[in-house]
Amino acid sequence: MLVTENLVKDYHVGQETVHALQNVNFETTAGDFTVINGPSGSGKSTFLNLIACIDRPTSGEVYIDGEATSQLTESQLAELRKRKIGLVFQTFNLIPVLSAYENVEYPLLLLGLKRSERKERVMKLLEQVDIQNLAKRRPDEISGGQRQRVAIARALVTEPKIVLADEPTANLDSETGKKVMSIMRRLNEEHKVAFLVVTHDPVVTNYAKRTINIRDGQLLED
Ligand SMILES: Nc1ncnc2c1ncn2[C@@H]1O[C@H](COP(=O)(O)OP(=O)(O)OP(=O)(O)O)[C@@H](O)[C@H]1O
Ligand SMILES: [Mg+2]
Repeated sequence: MLVTENLVKDYHVGQETVHALQNVNFETTAGDFTVINGPSGSGKSTFLNLIACIDRPTSGEVYIDGEATSQLTESQLAELRKRKIGLVFQTFNLIPVLSAYENVEYPLLLLGLKRSERKERVMKLLEQVDIQNLAKRRPDEISGGQRQRVAIARALVTEPKIVLADEPTANLDSETGKKVMSIMRRLNEEHKVAFLVVTHDPVVTNYAKRTINIRDGQLLED
């Protein structure tokens, strides 16, 4: 499903080189729920951005669904991101002028799905994250936990192979964070999609099927 092979990412800042990721070998398959724990600056976001093909590695390879992504053009990468990857962010990243319904529908417009199929998929996911009654509200008219549930619905609506979440509980109080994590775990069971969550929140680790630590750009399996 997803494999990284000797993944390296260096950043150059003036004369200095930052070794943000050092030879990372990682593998995940359908139904996994992996949490990667690490302190600020350990390389968590760098790792997710490479897997999401938002950024390119210095060396090494990311395979998604058996496909070597270094061989793909920008437009092929964009297509692969749309179809196979769902993203959940710390700051939710919803579109402020769109309703909850329209935010979840948006990726399906990009995929060119018919209106009736869009409606069916969006309503099903809004129900699964239990906010069907808030479908018409805009992000500034719902709570943080509800926003993150919209974002989770949006990540899953395209039926991706993998959902990547970067500190999904960072802007939530701990009770709401737990609720959001238990929804993710339930969707992981129901959709059989692989989840990869990076965090420095110890609460998130309780929801992991597999835990990995990251320190100075290196993965250490628990
Ligand atoms: N665009 C960049 N240019 C230069 N250095 C960068 C860049 N992005 C990240 N870094 C450096 O790479 C290392 C890893 O950063 P990264 O953002 O992946 O950490 P993180 O684990 O996500 O941290 P946080 O928990 O604070 O979000 C850090 O030392 C950071 O300063
Ligand atoms: Mg980060």
